[in-house]
Amino acid sequence: MAPTILIAGATGNTGRSVVEKLPELLKGTNMSSYRILALTRSANSAAAKALAKLPGVEVVEQNWVEIDEQWLRKHGVNRVFVASHNLPNAFAEEGQFLVNAMRAGVKYLVRISTTAANVSPAIPVYYPRTHWAIEQMLSQPEFKSMHWSSLQPNGFSSMFLAPTAAFIKEFKKTGKQGSVSMIIDATTPTGLIDPYDVGVVAAHLLAAEQSAPHDQKRYVLSGPENVTGEEVVKLVEQYIGEPVKDVRYKDLSFIDDMANNSSESKNVMLSIKGAPITSWEGKAKAETTSKEILELYAPKRTVAEVLKDLVEA
Ligand SMILES: NC(=O)c1ccc[n+]([C@@H]2O[C@H](COP(=O)([O-])OP(=O)(O)OC[C@H]3O[C@@H](n4cnc5c(N)ncnc54)[C@H](OP(=O)(O)O)[C@@H]3O)[C@@H](O)[C@H]2O)c1
Repeated sequence: MAPTILIAGATGNTGRSVVEKLPELLKGTNMSSYRILALTRSANSAAAKALAKLPGVEVVEQNWVEIDEQWLRKHGVNRVFVASHNLPNAFAEEGQFLVNAMRAGVKYLVRISTTAANVSPAIPVYYPRTHWAIEQMLSQPEFKSMHWSSLQPNGFSSMFLAPTAAFIKEFKKTGKQGSVSMIIDATTPTGLIDPYDVGVVAAHLLAAEQSAPHDQKRYVLSGPENVTGEEVVKLVEQYIGEPVKDVRYKDLSFIDDMANNSSESKNVMLSIKGAPITSWEGKAKAETTSKEILELYAPKRTVAEVLKDLVEA
């Protein structure tokens, strides 16, 4: 059986472009015969069906959190991409998956972490601590046989701009303004990134014939340019043709709703409110992108382009 590159989280924000880009990037390399296996929990979803149409891609209905060592060996998995969920049990589930991968002889792992300024043992937000802990685990000598790279992206522009796009669409439908809500600060520049670009970076890494230069690397990924909340409002005004009346910067009220509707500890869920603070402090700017990433594939998609796609979707 040809060696396999396994994509866990294939239908999501970052995984989709990993799957889209890998076939063309593998062409002409010594990995051109590798299988590309994209995982989903539901092969009937629109996202999974779209991936299944890509030449050279096999979509398999399999929840990655339930994969064991034998499964990985049976499918000849040699390289792995994983974009883990962000739930409080993410360390247990991603950690289990990665131990299984190492024991099954996987040679190279590319994973999605979170905003570099938040990846710290003392951050009062639970999920960046999870990413820190996974990176620490992978750094131990027991994992030496499996090369790994952890991508630390800034906030995803498609997620951060979703309420802004909804405001514009609603105005276009009704001619009435609601309020524009955004997570970012009015005046602090921040380098939001399109998760599509994050996936393209991951695909370049997975297609690299030599993984050793990228082993044990935490790479910082930001968008191509900085944006402030006030600049986003200017973009909105170009769409609606009038001044925006009500803007809520640094609006985290949706996290209260998330915590209230979750069966997880409220204390843990509400800690997410601490996540944007480093960006409000100016620690997540476009210029933080690692130089290795700028050389490999510099993120390209601007906030204006992402907003246009969301409005037209
Ligand atoms: N959002 C941001 O601004 C941001 C910024 C920086 C870093 N991050 C990091 O990005 C990572 C997530 O990456 P992503 O956004 O590309 O992933 P995602 O879109 O949230 O999820 C990827 C796929 O995983 C599957 N999935 C979702 N929840 C699952 C669960 N509980 N168990 C098993 N499978 C599940 C879904 O596929 P199927 O339904 O097809 O199975 C989903 O399409 C997180 O670790 C987060 O910390 C996010």
